[in-house]
Amino acid sequence: MSALFTPFQLKDVQLRNRIAVPPMCQYSALDGHTTEWHSVHYASIARGGAALVIVEATGVSPEGRITPSCTGLWSDTQTEGMARIAAAIRAAGAVPGIQIGHAGRKASANRPWEGDDHIPETDPRSWQPIAPSPLAFGGGLPRVPREMTLADIERVQADFVAAARRARDAGFQWLELHFAHGYLAQSFFSAHSNQRTDAYGGSAENRGRFLVETVEAVRAVWPERLPLTARFGVIEYDGRDEETLTESIAQVDRMRRAGLDLVNVSVNFVIPDGQVPWREPAFLAPVAARVKREAGLPVASGWCMDGAYTAEHVIASGQLDLVMIGRAHLANPHYPRELAHALKVERPDWTLPAPYAHWLQRYGGPGAASAQ
Ligand SMILES: Cc1cc2nc3c(=O)[nH]c(=O)nc-3n(C[C@H](O)[C@H](O)[C@H](O)COP(=O)(O)O)c2cc1C
Repeated sequence: MSALFTPFQLKDVQLRNRIAVPPMCQYSALDGHTTEWHSVHYASIARGGAALVIVEATGVSPEGRITPSCTGLWSDTQTEGMARIAAAIRAAGAVPGIQIGHAGRKASANRPWEGDDHIPETDPRSWQPIAPSPLAFGGGLPRVPREMTLADIERVQADFVAAARRARDAGFQWLELHFAHGYLAQSFFSAHSNQRTDAYGGSAENRGRFLVETVEAVRAVWPERLPLTARFGVIEYDGRDEETLTESIAQVDRMRRAGLDLVNVSVNFVIPDGQVPWREPAFLAPVAARVKREAGLPVASGWCMDGAYTAEHVIASGQLDLVMIGRAHLANPHYPRELAHALKVERPDWTLPAPYAHWLQRYGGPGAASAQ
């Protein structure tokens, strides 16, 4: 009996197993509108058997995009394309989710394969990034952001609310607020990037205020019966991990009280040279387990958890409620079938689409997931 292939219920949403596809930017939008690329990509991944497919980081405003080619939900004209994607994911038996966010000081960047760095200020495609304090990220993202005023803070929170409403209208059933990876919300919470002296800076509670208020405001428009979640970095790997983790768990608890239903535990990525233990499979699982235990809400996590026995273990041991498997799905949208095969799950909880099943009905095809 595999734990990975048991269902999971959160609010009124039932997931067919514990495998989720985390948000992964496709950098293929036009003016924030999804394109044919997105429709094909997400439908194909959802057909592969994952329970939850979360659409990529989607800007709540044009300035909140990471690159000019990122998706957005700041205009009603963007809802229709997203609605088609949500419907296609649902038709494949998966739950459609979406991540909405603001890139803060990491905004106005080139696509990864075109440099992954800030677009030069002289380039008409660039824009002025904003952040809690006028401090640059560094590395390939050297541009100094403009410090946000209180009016900016209110406006960005209103943008999150409007994007959440559009996500709801598009038919998404799972909302993830992007509070991780050094983007705007994470940079409010981190003392590395927040040197404000007003109510949004200083103590951990003050640095967390932008996030708690945003959760509260979004919860008011996001249906109570649907999961409201956040991806949140709780560790920087900068040598101050215990302090950051303790502060972050208290912050998760505050967000839980503001209406959050699950946290997708991740890394801060607020500094360019954190010592992330990439070579350790499932290095975040014990961290996420502690968040779950101490903050008392369900957790998901990912990064290097795609080995069949690793994914099975993080669920069976109770460390995680959901495991996020990213790049393996890009390489093979039918990756869950490989996991099922490796874990000897005789009848997984989905069937292959008929045009494929005719040919692939027998397990033991090429590329069974490696034991890890
Ligand atoms: C192409 C690509 C785009 C990504 N875009 C996002 C994103 O939009 N939002 C996010 O939170 N993480 C993003 N990530 C990180 C993934 O969600 C995931 O955490 C990462 O791939 C690690 O999981 P894995 O080891 O299973 O691939 C991206 C990763 C990749 C490979």
